[in-house]
Amino acid sequence: MRMIDIIAKKRDGKALSTEEIQFFVDGYTKGEIPDYQVSSLLMAIYFEDMNDDERANLTMAMVHSGDMIDLSAISGIKVDKHSTGGVGDTTTLVLAPLVAALDIPVAKMSGRGLGHTGGTIDKLESVAGFHVELTKNEFIDLVNRDKVAVVGQSGNLTPADKKLYALRDVTATVNSIPLIASSIMSKKIAAGADAIVLDVKTGAGAFMKTEEDARELALAMVRIGTNVGRKTMAVISDMSQPLGFAIGNALEVKEAIATLKGEGPEDLTELVLTLGSQMALLAQKATTLEGARQKLLEVIQNGTALNKFKEFLTNQGGDASVVDHPEKLPQAAFQIAVPAKSSGVIKQIVADEIGVAAMWLGAGRATKEDEIDLAVGIMLHKKVGEQVKQGDPLVTIYSNKKDVSEVMEKIYANIKIADHAEKPTLIHQIITNE
Ligand code: URA
Ligand code: CA
Repeated sequence: MRMIDIIAKKRDGKALSTEEIQFFVDGYTKGEIPDYQVSSLLMAIYFEDMNDDERANLTMAMVHSGDMIDLSAISGIKVDKHSTGGVGDTTTLVLAPLVAALDIPVAKMSGRGLGHTGGTIDKLESVAGFHVELTKNEFIDLVNRDKVAVVGQSGNLTPADKKLYALRDVTATVNSIPLIASSIMSKKIAAGADAIVLDVKTGAGAFMKTEEDARELALAMVRIGTNVGRKTMAVISDMSQPLGFAIGNALEVKEAIATLKGEGPEDLTELVLTLGSQMALLAQKATTLEGARQKLLEVIQNGTALNKFKEFLTNQGGDASVVDHPEKLPQAAFQIAVPAKSSGVIKQIVADEIGVAAMWLGAGRATKEDEIDLAVGIMLHKKVGEQVKQGDPLVTIYSNKKDVSEVMEKIYANIKIADHAEKPTLIHQIITNE
């Protein structure tokens, strides 16, 4: 087999065979095929697309390029949740203990990564003592006993995806549905998921800005999952404004605690119940979505979900007393209220720009070397569609620097007040393979 023939075939709009896909993924991972040939093939895929078989084959070739996590020693159906990412997305912190409280095993492998705030692990590290350095056996034992544990990414997972993603980044081929869908799905499958619930965000703060694009990506991932034997479904949810009120690491842990008590923001609560119900269905812990939702509400109301969160923190060295005393979480030196300049209704809170403001405060990383300040961030006081009076606080800035004038300017530029505005729809679509 020759790489040049594979490139020509895709350039001419033909479908690649299983063997051809295997050949280029293996060859590239091993360093036997040069960047320039793979770049050329990626661009051909960008223009000519891939059919369902090619997408499934590409996904599995990337899965098999490295280690696969074997979770078979954990009893039950391992359902993983994946979000395409947004601003102030506190869902994982709430969902992990919440669904574990229904005896659904949550064996979560998580990362740090770049972004407006830290990843799930960074957020959890706001809790003094919490760590993710577990051996494989400790991890499996914890999930079997208490149904939830989080470990850092370890091992050599999907090295083909790492190389291809880096190459796509510099060849203008990131934005391709077959390439994005196979990239995301390969990582979930390599991490050992039996079933997958996808939260595909749409709006200003999302990777997919329009609902059409989000739908296309969601459908592509659901088809891949189904075609490789993993029950998969997707929820398309709103990310035009940040999710919940908190954007920042310790602030989001506090928000997660409130949500597990049933006192969280309406949108975060609704999204968590929607995703959690789908997870319960896939894990066969409920037979209907309505029944699943009832069970989730029950463990929130009777305190089981909150206790599960305490147990989870304690198991991984964390000081669980923060759950009853959130003031023990890292505190910023300055809390600065940003008052509304006029009265009206909140029309827009541009999610990605507010995320950038949180990053300027130090809540996230721009490069891998950056250090995160866990205490800082932004708390929204109003969401789109809510009334505001001149002088009311729009947001509070949590900062360790006294001068926040630039952040304040950015906030004013990206929270728009008008005479009328509607509350945006949170759940846009539910996508299953039916
Ligand atoms: N996220 C991924 O993991 N892969 C992509 O290709 C795009 C976004
Ligand atoms: Ca939030």
